[in-house]
Amino acid sequence: MLVGMNNTPITSAAASGLLTDKAAFITGAGRGIGAAAARLFAREGARVLLAARTEAQLMAVTEEIRAAGGTADYVVCDLADPASVRAAVNRAVELYGRLDVAFNNGATGQPPGPMDQLSEADFDDVCAVNLKGPWLAMNAEIAAIRATAKRGAIVNTSSVGSLTGNPQLPVYGATKRAVNSLTESAAVTYGPEGIRVNAIAPGTTLTEMLHEWDERSPGTIEQLNARTPLGRAADPDEIAQAAAWLLSDRSSYVTGTVLRVDGGMYA
Ligand SMILES: NC(=O)c1ccc[n+]([C@@H]2O[C@H](COP(=O)([O-])OP(=O)(O)OC[C@H]3O[C@@H](n4cnc5c(N)ncnc54)[C@H](OP(=O)(O)O)[C@@H]3O)[C@@H](O)[C@H]2O)c1
Repeated sequence: MLVGMNNTPITSAAASGLLTDKAAFITGAGRGIGAAAARLFAREGARVLLAARTEAQLMAVTEEIRAAGGTADYVVCDLADPASVRAAVNRAVELYGRLDVAFNNGATGQPPGPMDQLSEADFDDVCAVNLKGPWLAMNAEIAAIRATAKRGAIVNTSSVGSLTGNPQLPVYGATKRAVNSLTESAAVTYGPEGIRVNAIAPGTTLTEMLHEWDERSPGTIEQLNARTPLGRAADPDEIAQAAAWLLSDRSSYVTGTVLRVDGGMYA
């Protein structure tokens, strides 16, 4: 995505083979940032496996990538179900014979509001999907990378909502803060094997998750944009571009970092 003089996205950056020949696993790939990543990684030469719960969305994105000449497939997977997470990662190895890179991006939001207003069931659900899910996925991915490509890279999607107190989305923020910690721990643990692990922390990004938040708390997007030096929300492709770079060999000395992709909001 290139931007014009007023910071408005104007067109897609030309692909340069950033992920040529890599087998990539992407969660939350049916829509939003994950779907943008699936399209981008495929344009950059990766064979991609898309995972999420909604088959119709996965199928649509997969078909779009294939129609554009890319290699893509999908697997239905619930991040709250350990067996389905492991099976989804293994499917990448079945399909492509290897796993080189993984983008653990799927997550759920929470109803906005003070933490005492959240039900225990919602608390457990947000933790299962946003924290245990990436932990399960990373474990399966490390095993698959070790067994096949030997070296590789993983990117987890955190959020700028993890960086400070988060009164509107407190449990979501806590799970994302925990993802930062798991990312750093994994980077230290697996660095000696040549497996890099990083996180991206997106700011305001125009996806269903953000629009849902804005519907429940009207004015949210406007308020966030007013606090953003670039003065606008991100297109999902702009977030995917950062993940692509971190998964590529072009970031070969970067591991254990949480990269803000937030238009400067937290600068
Ligand atoms: N949009 C923003 O402003 C923003 C800002 C910071 C961070 N983020 C993060 O960016 C990532 C992508 O979010 P998005 O904005 O693209 O949201 P989105 O459009 O709602 O997409 C979320 C994706 O995650 C999948 N997902 C949700 N629950 C799942 C589960 N239990 N099992 C498997 N997949 C599941 C969804 O598919 P199904 O529902 O079909 O399973 C969907 O494909 C998330 O980690 C989010 O926390 C977003």
